[in-house]
Amino acid sequence: MNLIEVKDYEEMSERAARYIIEKVRQAKTLNLGLATGGTPVGTYKNLIADHKENGTSYQNVTTFNLDEYVGLSGDDRNSYRFYMNEELFSHIDVVQANTHIPRGDAPDMQQECLNYEKLIAEHGGIDLQLLGIGTNGHIGFNEPGTSFDSATHLVDLAESTREANARYFSSLAEVPTKAITMGIATIMKSKEILLLISGQSKREALSNLLHGEVNENFPASALRNHPCVTIIADNAAIGK
Ligand code: F6R
Repeated sequence: MNLIEVKDYEEMSERAARYIIEKVRQAKTLNLGLATGGTPVGTYKNLIADHKENGTSYQNVTTFNLDEYVGLSGDDRNSYRFYMNEELFSHIDVVQANTHIPRGDAPDMQQECLNYEKLIAEHGGIDLQLLGIGTNGHIGFNEPGTSFDSATHLVDLAESTREANARYFSSLAEVPTKAITMGIATIMKSKEILLLISGQSKREALSNLLHGEVNENFPASALRNHPCVTIIADNAAIGK
């Protein structure tokens, strides 16, 4: 794993955006894996600014998001589809039909898991996957204990994850209890991974990732076995 140390959230966001922009510009077509949450918001802002100022085009980019809440439709303000449209897709020239997010309101959620996994494979897999990390080491919604062999699947969200995400809802009770997520094996199939880590609350997670055991109780540790991972972490997360 290659660790890039940066000063703060702003610098992390700029570096991450530059990394992505270079791939988008170089590749004839690119399958880009995306994440939601607080961490990538600044990166998306930088991608939008660059698209407006420098004209970087996303017409040849296909996106696959990591996860979605079960029970929320795409027009629910708290769905990850809504977030992605607001934070990125509606501000760049990506073709909306080429943006893929698991459906949280599919009539058959088990079938949706199979369909999503198949969709990624049919497109030839993800070239670059952007990740954040939970304080408990989750990636996507793969909570501690998730098998490293897992494909896209349904999960019961850990209480700590629901509490961390409650800031987006009017109350904790409103936070869905289930989600659909790419599995660890799905993420590990990505050709390249870019993991962003910012803030003091992620310090222990970063330290575990760098120095702890590779263990299913700390899902992100699977990344230690991936041949091409870049971590961009800020001083607060590093502990400087
Ligand atoms: C989001 C996702 C999650 C987040 C993680 C960190 O699509 O898959 O794993 O990356 O929960 O969230 P933030 O960035 O809000 O700290």
